[in-house]
Amino acid sequence: MSEPTSRLWGGRFSGTSAEAFDALNASLPVDQRMWREDIRGSRAHARMLGAQGIIPRADAEAIDAGLAQVEAELEAGTFAFQPGDEDIHTAVERRLTEIAGDAGRRLHTGRSRNDQVITDTLLWVRGRAESQQQALADLVRALVDRAREHVDTLVPGYTHLQRAQPVRLAHHLLAYAWMLVRDQTRLQFAMDAAGESPLGSGALAGSGFAIDRDATAAELGFARITPNSMDAVGSRDALVDYLSFAAQLGVHLSRLGAEFVWWSSEEVGFVVLDDAYASGSSMLPQKKNPDAAELARGKAARLSADLSGLLGATAGLPLAYNKDLQDDKHYVFDAADTLDLLLPAMTGMVATADFRADAMNAAAEEGFLAATDLADHLVREGWPFRRAHEAVGALVRVCSDRGVGLAGASPDDLAAAGLGDVTVPDLTALASVEAKDVPGGTARQRVLDQIDLIDQRVAGW
Ligand code: ARG
Repeated sequence: MSEPTSRLWGGRFSGTSAEAFDALNASLPVDQRMWREDIRGSRAHARMLGAQGIIPRADAEAIDAGLAQVEAELEAGTFAFQPGDEDIHTAVERRLTEIAGDAGRRLHTGRSRNDQVITDTLLWVRGRAESQQQALADLVRALVDRAREHVDTLVPGYTHLQRAQPVRLAHHLLAYAWMLVRDQTRLQFAMDAAGESPLGSGALAGSGFAIDRDATAAELGFARITPNSMDAVGSRDALVDYLSFAAQLGVHLSRLGAEFVWWSSEEVGFVVLDDAYASGSSMLPQKKNPDAAELARGKAARLSADLSGLLGATAGLPLAYNKDLQDDKHYVFDAADTLDLLLPAMTGMVATADFRADAMNAAAEEGFLAATDLADHLVREGWPFRRAHEAVGALVRVCSDRGVGLAGASPDDLAAAGLGDVTVPDLTALASVEAKDVPGGTARQRVLDQIDLIDQRVAGW
């Protein structure tokens, strides 16, 4: 028996590979960060091989001890990667074999890198997803806390970025909180999808040994095992689910960021960001820029690119594993890292933002925000809504021509709009928000109910 080459697949080859090919083929720079998961997966596999009598128990023990040493070296930063280490799986097995000899050479019995790599990646995603569940919950809590503080702060609500109707600031902030609650559901879905163990699927057809897939799955914390070996090694759906969550969350954070950019402008002045989440200009001494919010706005592009990247990489692939899939980790790691940067920064920005209640309350009384309330009043007096809409529209035209808001409408203005006989109701912003006394509306009690509802959801996380 000749000595195996350092390559995991060297036996079939007589020639050496080109440097340019090795550089293209190697995934170590990307996947070496999964070393913990790789070692966990290998220890579970080796223990199972020993327990099933597929390899001698003594070898299983030697593998376990050897992998513990490899782990310690990687942890300490003393692990020496070699030029031939194509990926993290190769590197770990190569080092294990240096330590444990032939026992190490038995580790890969009944396993392929194809089931190994997706097992490792799912373990990695589940770990990050768990911490992101907490980070996302923190952001929702920050929004809800600020909402609780600002139940009685009124602010113009916009459509088409034109002032539409007054709302409570709490209501506005809770709108973002609910988006993130749905993101939490999507993350949960992705974690569930990542909870199926592909280990034991081999290269594509399963294993010819009496392996115990349930045992390795249980040891690795998977809830169940994949039912089809070809699907298991050739699909990346669970990763796509995670990236879909990340892309949608990215879009939500982008919208939140954009709102803070706009609200913190001098033109609007609804919020002053804390110095801790802003930066200055190298040239303009007076500048305080909302960088955290801008970065949140911009990162949505990156997160959706990660999703479309992986979808693109998997589209059209024949079953089962294809090397195209090696790129999956690039997208997944990038999205996870991006969210790890974004979530705590957004939480801090929201928690420390100084909402200018006076400016908001004042803006909520200006202009024509109560136009619909006036029309609704006419409807209650018996007017058909369409006629009421028309008359109030005319009043708005008359008032804007004179440069006054609805509150400044004179008896002449009312008469000019055909509303001479109408007793004008309370058109304050407060009356307006209180009038929306329906579930999901802006009346005080409805907003308090909403806070209770979201508190209940968050309590379950
Ligand atoms: N580095 C590879 C990846 O990330 C591991 C799987 C390699 N499998 C193979 N048949 N060459 O996908």
